[in-house]
Amino acid sequence: MSYTIKINGQRRVVDVDADTPLLWAVRDVLGMPGTKFGCGMGLCGACTVHLDGAAVRSCITPVESADGQSVTTIEAVGSTHVGRAVQKAWLQLDVVQCGYCQSGQIMSATALLSSNPRPTEEDIRTGMAGNICRCGTYVRIQQAVEQAAKSIASSQKGA
Ligand code: FES
Ligand code: FES
Repeated sequence: MSYTIKINGQRRVVDVDADTPLLWAVRDVLGMPGTKFGCGMGLCGACTVHLDGAAVRSCITPVESADGQSVTTIEAVGSTHVGRAVQKAWLQLDVVQCGYCQSGQIMSATALLSSNPRPTEEDIRTGMAGNICRCGTYVRIQQAVEQAAKSIASSQKGA
């Protein structure tokens, strides 16, 4: 079957079975390897992408359910104001250790701040709880989300 996905601003057609995970369409068919495979069961968050702006686990999202919708991956998250602020905070606080989980972390953080630009500490903990980091970078992730939220708020004040 053919499915049309608007991915990172470009309309692309993928010809795969309906139940193929969106993750494989993104990585194998569309050649965008920034989205990672971790558990394959919706438990670790490594495969997080945005589907019409919402963070989803692409390993358990059938490609059929993305037909005609917009998908954003780590390759293009920096083209949004919030995504750019998140990436900048990640670099400033040197969040990354091995890096494997981090594209998923950044996608979840960006979705969180897009829907809740002024999160409390607890909001961040809850919003990021589904993203596992085996290197244990959680403290820096929490700080980076807080820093990104502050920088978004101050840029809006200046706007
Ligand atoms: S690979 Fe999708 S949640 Fe772990
Ligand atoms: S930085 Fe290594 S798994 Fe998170």
